[in-house]
Amino acid sequence: MAESMKGLKRSHRCTEVSNALVDQTVTVMGWVQKSRNKGGIIFVDLRDRSGILQVIFEEANCGAESFAKAEKLRAEFVVAITGKVAKRGGAVNENLATGDIEVIASDIRILSEADTPPFPIEENSKTKEELRLKYRYLDLRRPDLQKNIMLRSKVATLTRAFLAEEGFIEIETPTLCKSTPEGARDYLVPSRVHPGTFYALPQSPQIYKQLLMCSGYDRYFQIARCYRDEDLRADRQPEFTQMDMELSFVDVDDVIDVNERLLAKLFKETLDVDVKLPIQRMTYKEAMERFGSDKPDLRFGMELCDITDVVKDSEFVVFKGAIENGGSVRGINANGQGAMPRKKIDALVDFAKGYGAKGLAYIAINEDGTYKSSFAKFMTEEEMVAIVERMQGKPGDLLLFAADKTKLVYDVLGALRLELANQMGLLDKNEYRFVWITEFPLLEWNEDLGRYQAMHHPFTMPMEEDLEFIDTDPGKVRAKAYDIVLNGNEIGGGSVRIHQNDIQEKMFAALGFTMEQAYEQFGFLLNAFKYGVPPHAGLAYGLDRLVMLMAKEDSIRDVIAFPKVKDASCLMSEAPNVVDIKQLEELGIAIAREEEIAEG
Ligand code: AMO
Ligand code: AMP
Repeated sequence: MAESMKGLKRSHRCTEVSNALVDQTVTVMGWVQKSRNKGGIIFVDLRDRSGILQVIFEEANCGAESFAKAEKLRAEFVVAITGKVAKRGGAVNENLATGDIEVIASDIRILSEADTPPFPIEENSKTKEELRLKYRYLDLRRPDLQKNIMLRSKVATLTRAFLAEEGFIEIETPTLCKSTPEGARDYLVPSRVHPGTFYALPQSPQIYKQLLMCSGYDRYFQIARCYRDEDLRADRQPEFTQMDMELSFVDVDDVIDVNERLLAKLFKETLDVDVKLPIQRMTYKEAMERFGSDKPDLRFGMELCDITDVVKDSEFVVFKGAIENGGSVRGINANGQGAMPRKKIDALVDFAKGYGAKGLAYIAINEDGTYKSSFAKFMTEEEMVAIVERMQGKPGDLLLFAADKTKLVYDVLGALRLELANQMGLLDKNEYRFVWITEFPLLEWNEDLGRYQAMHHPFTMPMEEDLEFIDTDPGKVRAKAYDIVLNGNEIGGGSVRIHQNDIQEKMFAALGFTMEQAYEQFGFLLNAFKYGVPPHAGLAYGLDRLVMLMAKEDSIRDVIAFPKVKDASCLMSEAPNVVDIKQLEELGIAIAREEEIAEG
């Protein structure tokens, strides 16, 4: 039978009960972690969000009635316990914050009984994630998740305080918006009042924050929920949170400056990590050439090396063909991996094929300087020596090569570099390597659409020095866009925006839009710009990704209270789900039967 709180008040959280309180009476409340009955004495570990406290029941101290209640305790019962703080009688527990004290109970109330949970509530649970997500409310009781969720709250609080201090105004923007097809797929919400029409949930507050700059708010921020109907991965959820900001009368360096100071503050105050300022900057071009990625992990080297010129005259059709097709041949040197067994090398080849490679050529250099290679038979001895020299290959090294269109070579070697670093144990989660990636291409060619697409979004400012190419050679134009990358993760991105009508028109032309089409989609923004628009720029962090790295987790699911799984469903609430036919009728929506959907 559950008792009430009547007349009771919690005096401390579990781990607030310390040595300083010895001999004082405290009232603590929480969940029973475990209870051990040793005959005349019952030991209870009480848990709340702060940690664990040991409580002792003896009939002589608590009376027969309380002792009888203590005898009934099982894991996850919710209790209130009053007692006196004492130095620990038995051995001190070094693993607990309260390891040198205990509470000698004088009274207990059972506030709630509990069924046996489907998995134990403990740190480093080995329980399958699926089961944990089905019972997420229990999973969230576990200390590691509680730590993550509290860290997330601290990051949000510190960010609010810092940005307010810097003159930013927190403003909420709508989540029922107009669909603007550029970007990821939208989540749509049907309108009841206007049957057949739909709102879209925002992919980001981008247009609204630019409008707020037109309205003179000058520095805006928001911790904003965003929605993108994309394929999920460990670092992607259909709904996620941005720490979003926009500033007027600024250029790239101003945005970078305020954000570097924000990051330094966040890492100092949550992890006591010093972020060395200024953070390194690298152009997109350099990042691709050296690391095969626009979000390079700088915790280790293993840089890409171009050997195109060394092998361009070789007889090896794989290399020759790729070069003749306008591609290149590049490699990485996995230092000290020369003795890798054939099976493991084959697995790397398969890994590379997963990224679209047609194969992966290798040279394994033996300790005596001889080598094993998958393509030596097609090469002259001089060519092999030249390759090894270019790759700075030493005895014991493994050299891996991809030959293809350069973009594919980057993708393959960029991914392989990370895979090898992972296998070689080079990724230290306690090390934080930041880098700004700058000078992104403004546009990227979309094969499916047969036209250019904005790499960031259509409002991103081209670099002044490249403006002349926007009509003639749009693919060559670089943008005033920047990403902040941490340990190989894009934790944020932004850009300077176009505030000049003529440049915006050229941008839409490059994207293959007529001005009519542009007005149809973004008319309210383009109109707003006619009434006086300040130069402006901004940035948004993926809060989930940032906290994931701070918490040293591998998935953003571990820092989101109620995440979704790969198919975008929630295992706990079973969303999405069917709705009542009446709801659909009100919305004027009929569900096409599955076979009709298949027929299109
Ligand atoms: P962008 O699209 O780069 O920029 O998004 C900003 C940051 O949000 C995070 N992010 C995600 N996190 C989790 N799940 C997702 N599906 C997901 N998608 C993105 C990333 C990313 O860096 N409006 C612009 C910002 C600006 O220009 O100011 C924008 O949305 O960490
Ligand atoms: P093959 O003559 O097709 O057996 O290829 C010889 C070696 O080249 C094998 O190790 C293949 O994995 C490798 N290879 C094939 N295609 C490529 C490619 N596009 N880039 C790098 N290596 C390749």
